[in-house]
Amino acid sequence: MAFAHKHILGINELSREDIITILDTAESFKEINTREIKKVPTLRGKTIINLFFESSTRTRTSFEIAGKRLSADTVNISASASSVTKGETLEDTARNIEAMHPDIIVMRHSASGAPHYLAQRLNCSVVNAGDGAHEHPSQALLDLFTIRQHKGRIEDLKVAIIGDITHSRVVRSNLYALNKMGAEVRLSGPGTMIPPGIEKMGATVYADMNEAIDGADVVMMLRIQMERQGKSLIPSLREYARFYGLNTVNLKLARPDALVMHPGPINRGVELSSYVADGPQNVILSQVENGVAVRMALLYLISGVEHSEA
Ligand code: CP
Repeated sequence: MAFAHKHILGINELSREDIITILDTAESFKEINTREIKKVPTLRGKTIINLFFESSTRTRTSFEIAGKRLSADTVNISASASSVTKGETLEDTARNIEAMHPDIIVMRHSASGAPHYLAQRLNCSVVNAGDGAHEHPSQALLDLFTIRQHKGRIEDLKVAIIGDITHSRVVRSNLYALNKMGAEVRLSGPGTMIPPGIEKMGATVYADMNEAIDGADVVMMLRIQMERQGKSLIPSLREYARFYGLNTVNLKLARPDALVMHPGPINRGVELSSYVADGPQNVILSQVENGVAVRMALLYLISGVEHSEA
């Protein structure tokens, strides 16, 4: 296994081989999460700091669990409870944290490029847990892992991603990841939520959601990122749900065995009806479960330690 990366800043920086290494490593870690004693000593003595400047349920918790299951010491810092509220800059905050000798800082920030900025200035490893509307690499990797788990492959699958494309870091990371793995990516959403030129990233854009999901193997639904929009880009949520919501009727256009995915948090009744969110084709909690194994793999691979005891 060769993995030459000190940081995980985006999928754009990873090769297809890197992605396969991460998915295969996650596969080897997955079983640990179902043991009675869910702990291996792989990262004993390492310190991981989760530095979150934006709210999170899944990403922060699963990075913390991933670190703990590998026996690392994990510390969580939320910006709202830190000295950032007293005016300390990002760089000063990070330098002060680094003075305590962490091995890895996992960071979420509303500014695109914030983890790259820190990676250039700090000696420890930096993992991007979501930066603005730029990338969310660990989310795309757990999405790939879940698709491969349920479909046996990623290559040649038709993946429809529906919703707020402009403001979604999940889309950008998935566009890089799915293209590197040979999938066909289709995008659909309101015209106000489709950035001009997104096709150049390797996707076909459909104004009509039904055309995007027709014959799809995977339908990935997105939340409207209200917190990143200066003004409302849709007339009403009811209208949005009518044209860009997934329900039991339009889901029939996809393949009968199509997976329904969502990075969470879900807005029930907006992008997904409750019947579909809880229905037989949904793999949403499988995505969350796999997130722990994928994040264990990332923390392990960038640490460059031997994995013989797992
Ligand atoms: N998918 C995701 O990033 O969820 P959280 O915002 O809860 O971490």
